[in-house]
Amino acid sequence: MAGDTYALTLLSGAKWLTDVAIVWLIGVGAYKLMAAVAPPTDVRTLDTRLARQAGLALSLLAVATAARLYAQTYSSFGLDEPVTGELIRLVAEQTRWGGRWQMQAAAVALAAPATALVAVKSGARWTWWVFGATILAIVGVAPTTSHAFAYDGGVVLPMALQIAHLSAAGVWLGTLLVLLSAGLSSGPSARGEDGTAVSRLVDRFSPVALTAATVLGGTGVLTAFLYVDEIPQLWQTSYGRVLLLKSGLFGLTAALGAYNWRRVRPAIAGPGGVTRLQRSGTAELLVAAVLLLVTAWLVHLPMPHE
Ligand code: HEM
Repeated sequence: MAGDTYALTLLSGAKWLTDVAIVWLIGVGAYKLMAAVAPPTDVRTLDTRLARQAGLALSLLAVATAARLYAQTYSSFGLDEPVTGELIRLVAEQTRWGGRWQMQAAAVALAAPATALVAVKSGARWTWWVFGATILAIVGVAPTTSHAFAYDGGVVLPMALQIAHLSAAGVWLGTLLVLLSAGLSSGPSARGEDGTAVSRLVDRFSPVALTAATVLGGTGVLTAFLYVDEIPQLWQTSYGRVLLLKSGLFGLTAALGAYNWRRVRPAIAGPGGVTRLQRSGTAELLVAAVLLLVTAWLVHLPMPHE
């Protein structure tokens, strides 16, 4: 593999892991909020499961954050010389990218005690608010290493759009991930014995997912309007072509979501309904994972006017 293709693969792979982890973390927080509206009888069991998911997601984010620093160092120096600890420190401490990366790493470090707190004091509501605040910090600084900070028309609008975009992705797809893996993963509902309880849960999730998908599509299109100056750039530049691919995948994810909402949801309480939901929900998440991979690639391509 040519050096610059390898660099792009490293950068995109690390960014993909980062986005998957952030979407997952937002999902844990959003699921907890959703469950708080009508708490289940066994809040402690739910909290324990959510705390485990938060721990896994945060560990993934910590690994991904370190991987991004390595990838950035490789793409800056690795084509000419071996990546050493000294070079990694140089990129982290003496570049503008490194300054923003440090903010992101600090937000991840801040989330560690908050995640430990929800695990140790499961059942205490305030710990979840502290956890939620640290997720907001992670989301707030995430776009600083994307194109939002390089946009020459000012950073405020693209940053605001990207923060809303990432939050909406987490509320829709992260919550779905948590619903399938922690909400249905054990207990009677997973064995199809309590389809009515699952049906109630999904009924609560559906309007949240619909709103988040609308915000996600809207903020995505508005960001694209900022970055793409002329329509032909959509097929004449690599950025435009990858953006079109991403839009197609969005259409597919949204179509699967609509199928789950209109067809699968009404039949959940019936025989085999929960299993069907697990299968179709997993398909929706798999397409979304590919979409995030395409996004991670997009973020590292030159903007159309460059
Ligand atoms: C399931 C749907 C989608 C998901 C999960 C998703 C996810 C993301 C994520 C995680 C980012 C990176 C945020 C960052 O760290 O800076 C991003 C950026 C972006 N998204 Fe989406 N997105 C979706 C749909 C869309 C749609 C429909 C469009 C517009 C057609 C769009 C356009 C963009 C653009 C232009 C960027 C900025 C990329 C850059 O920095 O160059 N997205 N998206």
